[in-house]
Amino acid sequence: MPASFQPDADPTGAELIAARPSIRMHAMDGLLIEDVPLNSIADAVGTPSWVYSATTMRARARNLRTALAETGLDISLHYAMKANDHLAIVRILRAEGLGADAVSGGELDRGLAAGIAPADIVYSGVGKSELELRRALQVDVGQINVESAEELEMLSGIAHDMGCTARIALRVNPDVDAETHAKISTGRARDKFGIPWNDVPALYARAAALPGVDPVGLATHIGSQIMSLAPFRAAYARIARLVTELRGAGHAVRSVDCGGGLGVAYRNEPAPTPTGLAGALRAAFHNLDVQLLLEPGRWLVAPAGVLLCTVVLTKRSAGTRFVVLDAAMNDLVRPAMYDAWHGIVPVSAADAARPAEQADIVGPVCETGDTFARGRALPPLARNARVAILDVGAYGSVMSSTYNARPLAAEVMVDGERWSVIRARQSTEALWQDESVPDFIA
Ligand code: LLP
Repeated sequence: MPASFQPDADPTGAELIAARPSIRMHAMDGLLIEDVPLNSIADAVGTPSWVYSATTMRARARNLRTALAETGLDISLHYAMKANDHLAIVRILRAEGLGADAVSGGELDRGLAAGIAPADIVYSGVGKSELELRRALQVDVGQINVESAEELEMLSGIAHDMGCTARIALRVNPDVDAETHAKISTGRARDKFGIPWNDVPALYARAAALPGVDPVGLATHIGSQIMSLAPFRAAYARIARLVTELRGAGHAVRSVDCGGGLGVAYRNEPAPTPTGLAGALRAAFHNLDVQLLLEPGRWLVAPAGVLLCTVVLTKRSAGTRFVVLDAAMNDLVRPAMYDAWHGIVPVSAADAARPAEQADIVGPVCETGDTFARGRALPPLARNARVAILDVGAYGSVMSSTYNARPLAAEVMVDGERWSVIRARQSTEALWQDESVPDFIA
């Protein structure tokens, strides 16, 4: 944690860059991601563009694996594809030994397309359709996390009908507040997720008696962008107690899926570390002889991506300086949706060196919510200046829409000195290619 962290003060651009190994400022070439100038990418591909650092993703996967390995526990990692499901990213993480956590038929197929073995896929989600469950059974995924009594009965029926057995975990709602944004908190009693922990023993017994399902353990996930270890400890302790209780009732409980949720330091704020999380896991499960699964998403990829943008124009209104970018809430929705704070840094070293003044950084979409930052200290930025919005590798491109008929931005992968477009910028025509105008209208 930076000793100088002040909760109310934003870090400077230089501080943001210094804390992120994937980027650095070059006096002539401007901001680099790994060894590639963002200017070269913008010149070739245009903006807005998502740019990812492969090295950062690998390094973070290794860092997490090492910290977990040091616990001596049996822990497997299942990348939560929802954070960023690009095939290239899933492949990078697969090469680091990770399986996948999928939450829809689409993610399941994407994971398979990226080469993840079905056995390494955990299928989660509060509302899996019958079709999706059939697909999961047909490809024989490693585990299905069941979130309700109704889903349990449905899955048992489908599996029995298909003549197979589903390995299932019951997802427990431990009634723990993850102390994160309300919209991404999932483990409180009132949240839609999981089975109330009091109901778990009876439902586990029911699962053990049903045909077509083999209960192998429990699962939980209390939320995302969790910035202290206390909620993890509280949830894991509750799950560990349930494991003991279920075993006492004669059930085999072989595994516990501990979900994701590890937060990242968007504002250089103090954040929990993989070692801290490993400690919380060890404290709860060290004497239970249970196989653990983790489903990290954000922590692995958020700091590995930037959104490269160009200033369309600047304007002053009622004393506020507005910097209007060519990226908008349709590209990166996190600030509009969760009031999320993302670092914004100039790409040009000369721009970065000028004294900062306050500005609102906004997009061109016709909503006041299309605001990336309010009252942010940034040097003056003129038309055509470029900026990078930081830490957008997770829940960035995957949450994009084409609102305001804005085509999806390009995506680029950087690996050392090499880089490549990994998704072409969508064409405008592609926006309506699947539309038709019926005869009775024409
Ligand atoms: N496992 C389950 C069952 C989940 O629902 C999630 C995230 C994860 C794992 C991965 O959590 P992570 O390690 O990434 O925190 N769009 C929001 C985040 C939504 C998270 C949803 N579930 C955002 O931009 O902050």
